[in-house]
Amino acid sequence: MLNISSFAAIGGFLFGYDVGVLSGCLLMEDFQNRFINDQISKTLLVSVLMAGAFVGALYSGPLADYIGRKRSIIIGTAVNILGSVIQTAATDTSMMIVGRVIGGLSIGQLSMLVPLYQSEIAPKELRGRLITMQQFAITVGIAVSFWIDYGTINWEGSSSWRFPMGIRLIPAFILLFGMIFMPYSPRWLMAKGRDLEALKTIAFLRGNGSLSDQTVQMVFTEIKQSVVFEQKYTSQTYWEIFRSGHEHNRRRIWLGIAVQIFQQLTGINVAVYYAADIFQSAGVSGTTAALFANGVDGMVNVIATIPTIFFIDKWGRRPTLISGAISCSACMLILAIVLATHGLTDGTTNDIPIQEGTGSLSLLFTRNSTVVVMVFLYLFVACYAYSWGPVGWIYPAELYPQRLRAKALGITTAANWLFNFAISQLAPPMLSGIHWGTYLVFSIFCGLMALMVYLEFPETKGKSLEEIDLIFSGQLKDDDLGVHHPATAAAALAQLERMKFSEKYSNRETSFGNAIEGALKRVADEGAVNNEELELTPLKNNVPSPSPSTT
Ligand code: BGC
Repeated sequence: MLNISSFAAIGGFLFGYDVGVLSGCLLMEDFQNRFINDQISKTLLVSVLMAGAFVGALYSGPLADYIGRKRSIIIGTAVNILGSVIQTAATDTSMMIVGRVIGGLSIGQLSMLVPLYQSEIAPKELRGRLITMQQFAITVGIAVSFWIDYGTINWEGSSSWRFPMGIRLIPAFILLFGMIFMPYSPRWLMAKGRDLEALKTIAFLRGNGSLSDQTVQMVFTEIKQSVVFEQKYTSQTYWEIFRSGHEHNRRRIWLGIAVQIFQQLTGINVAVYYAADIFQSAGVSGTTAALFANGVDGMVNVIATIPTIFFIDKWGRRPTLISGAISCSACMLILAIVLATHGLTDGTTNDIPIQEGTGSLSLLFTRNSTVVVMVFLYLFVACYAYSWGPVGWIYPAELYPQRLRAKALGITTAANWLFNFAISQLAPPMLSGIHWGTYLVFSIFCGLMALMVYLEFPETKGKSLEEIDLIFSGQLKDDDLGVHHPATAAAALAQLERMKFSEKYSNRETSFGNAIEGALKRVADEGAVNNEELELTPLKNNVPSPSPSTT
């Protein structure tokens, strides 16, 4: 399963690469001559990717419900290939802009589909780790794009930018063809009534492939209960996402939007997009040296994400977000103070002139204050990378009931891209207008975010998506260790049914329990038709009895 998740995370690599590659290209002479006529064309080249991503994220929700998560990832990758080909072959500004828009659509798609898919195939105790693989891949994509730009910046002619633009087709084709062999999300299969396939997929994902395995059947039962409940008693419309009602969906969507907006309000993309400018304003001389420092920035981002892959399911989401926000806030504050007292205030635009003969060695001749700025910018990136980077994507993917998950994630991801866009536009005037005040603003945002998470965000670590659903419906407590069993989830669902729906549905002959019983029987019958040995003992009573080895 780690393999499947890591493979899908190539989508994250494409996301990171597409975001990172342009910053170096903008500094290349041939690229500037062909595509940058004025400030407007430059701004457009940067921002249309995010505008495309905003739209791509929004339409991917309904698409993922309709044709499935796996097939949507395949389509998103095909769109990415189209965008890459157009950008690589671009001959004028409008062609490059069209390529960037199409690339943006695909990045919007992949940025919500990959965590969605990962969250739905993951066992609850590894879900954080698997989604962190996506963030890890994003950081690798950004770093690789920085270093490739660094390597080709002095090449003659258009190959300096066509090579970095085109090389990403290799991972894109690997993802496109590889995804064909990946399983469907079992939760999506069940929502579509394809129960036996879902059971087989769960068995495959759990490693041993046995349909009779007790853990496999318990996971199946838990998801089925939740899906049946939703289909019988809840509305399936898009607007349910914004209704409060018994499920408190409005609160969930606000939490998801907040975590994604907060991720951008850390200021991370000031460090990602404008690190070269910041280093120059702090005294690093020469384009190549600044790009080199940028590459190091990318490496720090990658390395600091690694501990989270191993520990996020131990640390929990809340402590990681809170500590990340506090440490980011502290780094930003120190940057503000150092730049206020020692910074250069005249070179903070993105227009770095190409200077011959300055390489990474010139970094050795920097001033003390410059070193402090570099260290704290890197430290800031590291603090972000272990916390808001991964958890910014993990948390929203865990919040919603099955029928709304994809659509809601589309909305939260779109919010992320909107703020990504806003910050990429606001950062240059802020850096050149209020200089060190920029860092102070982000420091304050980070401080407020720590407080908001402390006050408002429930913990989701170690719970199944179905249990989290019940926590928001008020039937389970987020700090109750005893909830980790489908039996408890079933009891909570039954309780919800009694409390909220008994009056309305009292005349129905088929109770919720019977509906689940019926669904399970159909799976057994289908299995028997296919001559499959299906030992359904743990499912017979609809809810298996608790055992200490549950997952
Ligand atoms: C964010 C991007 C950011 C990247 C940096 C991602 O999680 O969504 O906006 O550039 O992290 O690593």
